Amino acid sequence: MNTHERSSLLARALGELQAGEDGDARRLLDMASEHGSLMASGLLQALAGDEVSNAYDQPRAFERFIRGAGNLALYDAVSAELARMYTTHVPHSLLDIGAGDGMALAPAIGASDHAIAHLDVVEPNSALLCHLKALLPTAEGHETTLERFAPTLPATAHWQMAQSTFALQSIAPAARKAALRLLAAHVDRLIIVEFDVPDLAAGTPEYYASLAARYEEAAADCGDDADLVAGGFLAPMLLGQLRAAAPSNYEQPMRAWESEVTEAGFRVVRVAHVHPYSWADAFLLEAVPAGHSPGRPAD
Ligand SMILES: C[S@@+](CC[C@H](N)C(=O)[O-])C[C@H]1O[C@@H](n2cnc3c(N)ncnc32)[C@H](O)[C@@H]1O
Repeated sequence: MNTHERSSLLARALGELQAGEDGDARRLLDMASEHGSLMASGLLQALAGDEVSNAYDQPRAFERFIRGAGNLALYDAVSAELARMYTTHVPHSLLDIGAGDGMALAPAIGASDHAIAHLDVVEPNSALLCHLKALLPTAEGHETTLERFAPTLPATAHWQMAQSTFALQSIAPAARKAALRLLAAHVDRLIIVEFDVPDLAAGTPEYYASLAARYEEAAADCGDDADLVAGGFLAPMLLGQLRAAAPSNYEQPMRAWESEVTEAGFRVVRVAHVHPYSWADAFLLEAVPAGHSPGRPAD
């Protein structure tokens, strides 16, 4: 069986999973797994256990994933781009939303010649937050989600810059837009880094083929950690994308991010390509609150 045939078996299995036809899906996954599909094995593993409901429930799998060969160049590019933002805009105060273990944030702070006096991070996963605090002990950690954090902000809360790298895709669009709208009153500038995923209609054969190819390549990039990452991070992420009951990933094309941020009360001032990546190209979006008056003092 060649790579294309294996990928098309995986793509058909994804269609069956989304349709709730788990028996048919498992048969297709068994076949693809026997022929070496890492994602088919990972999905079978995730379907067999019931304790893993979220892609970040096994932080070690996520942390191995972002340190896989393909991800290192991506993170280098993201951190370099963030460092350039700090040098250009010299923020006194910074809020990182969904900061994870600081893999993008810490090197950006280290590479920038501008010192940020007040750093806050919002991160709901306690293990990831704990690892971040070990790297950045002066950061103020908020172990919560953006949706819970934003409505509780006092009127005086203010950051000169807010950033989020690959984290807003974890939040359902309506809740995300509502939280961003609240955040617009508290920040001078918003920097988002996300993937410009292909604009394909969900549920079409092209959509499943794209998911199958992109996830398989992401797993293959992880070398010796491929089994851990496929079963512990990528499969829960993919199931979260396919299962209507509890989706946990809401990635979208770059143009949709631009529209969403605009509808949430920001003005997009720049969109730039950051890195070509197997999953999809990473891009950076820079926005300011619509009606923003520059030079507002920091918190
Ligand atoms: C792909 S990771 C990115 C982490 C980090 N920003 C980076 O670039 O490595 C997504 C992060 O978003 C966090 N997250 C998930 N849901 C969230 C929410 N509702 N609000 C804020 N962060 C969330 C996860 O715990 C995880 O750390």
